[in-house]
This record gives sequence, C-alpha cells and structure tokens, in this order.
Amino acid sequence: MGRVCSITHASWTDAASPDNFRISTAALERGNVLFLPHLPFDVGAGSRDLFSPEILSSSKNSSFDPASGRVGGTTLTGEPLARLGQLMSRFSDSADALVGSLFPSYRSRIQRARASFRPAEIAGRQTSWRKDDTRLHVDSFPASPVQGRRILRVFSNVNPAARPRSWRVGGEFGDVAARFAGALSMPPPGSALLLQLLRVTKTRRTPYDALMLQLHDRMKADETFQKTSQQESVDFPAGSTWIAFTDEVGHAAMAGQYQLEQTFLLPLDAMENADRSPLRILERLKGRRLT
Ligand SMILES: [Fe+2]
Repeated sequence: MGRVCSITHASWTDAASPDNFRISTAALERGNVLFLPHLPFDVGAGSRDLFSPEILSSSKNSSFDPASGRVGGTTLTGEPLARLGQLMSRFSDSADALVGSLFPSYRSRIQRARASFRPAEIAGRQTSWRKDDTRLHVDSFPASPVQGRRILRVFSNVNPAARPRSWRVGGEFGDVAARFAGALSMPPPGSALLLQLLRVTKTRRTPYDALMLQLHDRMKADETFQKTSQQESVDFPAGSTWIAFTDEVGHAAMAGQYQLEQTFLLPLDAMENADRSPLRILERLKGRRLT
C-alpha cells in the first residue's frame, strides 16, 4: 500500500463532498500524501515572464507573507514584482480555501504561514548536504520554531512545459524516529533563550523543535538511510496539487521546476488523532514532555 492517497476533488473553492473530506482528514493524519490529480492552479496568461529562475535573488525560492503582503527572495522590482506578489497571494488564498473545504475540523484553528514560488530546477543543483532537499527529510524550521504545531503544506506543480515534480516519499514517521531517537539529544538548558536573544530564532525553540532539527539533519546525513530505508518514487504531474504533513512524511524532491507552495501550522489539539503526531511520538520515545 503506497503512501499517496488520491481524491477526485477538483475545485479550489467548492465544498468537498462528505466522502472526500472524511477520506482527506483521515489520510492526512495517517501520514499519507493527499493527491489531487484533477486540481490545477491557473497561473494566468499575464505571468509568463515570471517563470524563470532569473527572478530569484540568492535563495531557492521566492516567498510571500500573506499577513504583510511582503515578497522576498527575488530581484524583481516595480510592476513585475507586484505581479509576482499577486500570483502568490492568489495561490495563498486558494490554498486557504482548499484546506477549509477538505479539512472542515481544522478550519477555525489552522494558521496560514508563508507561501513560496519555486522556479529553479531541483535536479543537479549544487548545495550543502543540510540544504539538499533531494535527500529524504522531514521539515523543520531553524528560525521559526513551530513549538509542537503541525506543518501542513499545499503544493501545486505549475510547470508550463508539462514536466512532473518527482519526489521520493519515505516510510512511517514512527519507524524513522525510532531509528534515530538514540542520537537525538536534549538541548542544553538556557540555549533556547540564548538563540532567541541572539535573534537566531524568532520565538522560543522548544526541545521538540531542537529534536526535529536534529532529526532532519540525521536523516539527510545518513547515506545508508537515504539508500535503503523504505521509500517510493512519486511523480506529481504538471497541473496537479498535493497536500501533506511534511513534518511527518519523509520526502525528497528529486527533479522538477516551477511549483507553488503554501505552508500552514496546525495546533495539535485541532487534530482528530494527535497521538500519532511527531510531538507525541518523540515524547514517547524520549519519555518526557518536549514543549
Ligand atoms: Fe522539505
């Protein structure tokens, strides 16, 4: 049984059928990737000039903060910058509406974080192992601690040349966490306060955040794990959308260019079954509270 669960839902704004939203929440919370093969995001005819890696400054993607409207990571200025902001803003609103209709029980609790546009080709990109997203990993944010909240991400492949986005999807989080648990160490007392004072983190890095960062690194650095752990290859075609708890689902983006992504944070008590969340699993493995 694969980790990808396909649903027929094909609208950014319409309510999901009772069947679809029952399947969606259960599949997501079981650690599956929810795949919507019939849900393309229409980038509009006026955005073709934005589809180039040349628009990036130093980072691998351009970001959009829906709270402030600020666009980052790009060299664009003036009117093209405004159009890039509008593209990501429209995607951000669409992803928000989609999450509201597929996961009605999350609707009042979920928090919208940043969106991104990723116009660079993944395959062949030179980077350090820690930043190399072609290695299986779970997501964890060094500067923005989630403090136990779930990371839910909506992705849409908007490749104009109809090229797929190719992922490897890893095995059960519980198995991965158990494999590395002995190597994950509790942060030294006072370190969270220091990181915050030095503005390395925007808020307090909880022990959970510290362990998840270590897990991200341990997974990426372990060549045997990369090659031999349970995994499957998945191609997400251009014009498709997919959703996953990327703090739980091991993933590696192997190839592809032009993707839109929206990140959400979900408080643990908004889940239907928080027992299998990374926080609860790590707490059981470490025998202590982590937030
Ligand atoms: Fe990732």
